Amino acid sequence: MSHVPVMLEEVLQNLAPRDGGAYLDGTFGGGGYARAILQHAACTLWAIDRDPEALARGAALVALNPGRLHLLEGSFGDMLGLLGCAGVTALDGVVLDLGLSSFQIDDASRGFSFRGDGPLDMRMSRSGPSAADLVAQLSEAELADTLFQFGEERLSRRIARAIIRARAEAPITTTGQLAAIIRGVVPPSRDGIDPSTRSFQALRIRVNDELAEIARGLSAAATLLNPGGRLVVVSFHSLEDRIVKRFFADAAGRAPSPSRHDPRGLAMTPAARFKLLTSRALRPRESEIAANPRARSARLRAMECLTRGQTQEFEARQ
Ligand SMILES: C[S@@+](CC[C@H](N)C(=O)[O-])C[C@H]1O[C@@H](n2cnc3c(N)ncnc32)[C@H](O)[C@@H]1O
Repeated sequence: MSHVPVMLEEVLQNLAPRDGGAYLDGTFGGGGYARAILQHAACTLWAIDRDPEALARGAALVALNPGRLHLLEGSFGDMLGLLGCAGVTALDGVVLDLGLSSFQIDDASRGFSFRGDGPLDMRMSRSGPSAADLVAQLSEAELADTLFQFGEERLSRRIARAIIRARAEAPITTTGQLAAIIRGVVPPSRDGIDPSTRSFQALRIRVNDELAEIARGLSAAATLLNPGGRLVVVSFHSLEDRIVKRFFADAAGRAPSPSRHDPRGLAMTPAARFKLLTSRALRPRESEIAANPRARSARLRAMECLTRGQTQEFEARQ
């Protein structure tokens, strides 16, 4: 098992780590970005992950980079506190690679995937309520809302009804059980996407409070950056990217454009604390997608800090 870092070259180009700089990788995962950043410049790197297994695997990389790589367990939404406890109050760059690592997806015992059968868990941090708890406890309306809001699942009501019917007969405790219930009420799609894909995404986002985490992480990162510091975010679906895109537009002082063709919408206001480095999201090259199909849906956005300042808590509005 391994994790192939996505859009690594583009991440390095946009983060542009410098000798002597201090950087944060808010999503350490398999350590692919971290290793490359440490090789690219004689810098210090702080790395956060909420998954204790990711950090345990990272010990070897820490040993190879004495005094340069520091691992912190927790959520990147709490980066101000986590770094503050370590005496770090300013950074020259932050990278976030959202979502799951291949280690998490491919390990059936983590319960993220409908492919192998495993416990219906989905907790990145291994703490708090699991997906099985949500499926057991949410009302039919709450389940339907979750599937619709976080999975953009059009058949959310039908699936919620089927879950309620099934759980009245026996507790739903495995990914296989849930996938079978969904397959029973959602017809196979013509593009070959598994009928469970959207529902599993929705539960995962809710279990890990992922969208609120992104909003908190972006605000905190923008507060920590020095002038010239870069924020680079790789997202994997439209719900994530929408939050990143709106946050970047706000930080760069760009009012939402009234029309795609109206140049006034792109005018910078005096409030701009950041300058966009990517006017639209970068996508992986065809060759990368061919070599690593998991890169398929990646989008990278980057911006550079102009002046240091406090960034208001940003709300994860849809
Ligand atoms: C896509 S992987 C990162 C892979 C990494 N860039 C690499 O090259 O190996 C995402 C990682 O971020 C972690 N993660 C996701 N959301 C998080 C959050 N809010 N706080 C901390 N870690 C998070 C996951 O546990 C996972 O290990």
